[in-house]
Amino acid sequence: MPRTLIAPSILSADFAKLGEEARAMVAAGADWLHLDVMDGHFVPNITFGPDAVKALRPMTKLPLDVHLMIAPVDPYIAAFAEAGADIITVHAEGAPHLHRSLQTIRTHGKKAAVALNPATHESALSYVLDDVDLILVMSVNPGFGGQSFILAQLAKIARIREMIGRQPIHLQVDGGVTPENAQAIVEAGADCLVAGSAAFRGGPSAYADNITALRTAAANASSIIA
Ligand code: DX5
Ligand code: ZN
Repeated sequence: MPRTLIAPSILSADFAKLGEEARAMVAAGADWLHLDVMDGHFVPNITFGPDAVKALRPMTKLPLDVHLMIAPVDPYIAAFAEAGADIITVHAEGAPHLHRSLQTIRTHGKKAAVALNPATHESALSYVLDDVDLILVMSVNPGFGGQSFILAQLAKIARIREMIGRQPIHLQVDGGVTPENAQAIVEAGADCLVAGSAAFRGGPSAYADNITALRTAAANASSIIA
């Protein structure tokens, strides 16, 4: 089984020292940095925009994985691409012209990704599988860190893994991921885990151990991906 990617979400970082936090998480062994963009409209919280992505870009060569929880989303894709995002995720629920949004991301030379809220059926992906590099399953309702993993999403992850088959599409899970549930999530079919609270708890001196705990749990998963 390929190594599970760990993408800490800086939503749980100390916003007064975002640059230091990002550097510390990179040094601790993160694979990607997950940046949660919220608009107070599509989700009931507000975080940051393209300028923060631009400010973080020089901190690392690791992929910046930008999760856009905003609507409308199309008018902002170019700004996030130019700010240095490597992966840009749009929500199926926030992008009425999802196919166009995904094409726009690829037109900017970025990896295109689609996210599904917990109540959204995986059939929303049926006609965009050729247009995505990553599928994000939200395992909490988007907006806040520190929520509990919604167990019903395990079945959805498994069904999406079947839909992906051998196509080169990452399956990412975001929300309530911990060392306690990481094995089950990877066994269901995820290959990329986003972790906010579980990655940032305890401050910078704990980050390496936090990532190791997630990695170890993920590595315990019995293989379903050939
Ligand atoms: C929620 C965000 C998540 C969140 C994960 O809307 O998309 O990335 O930060 O945080 P935890 O791991 O604390 O659930
Ligand atoms: Zn996220």
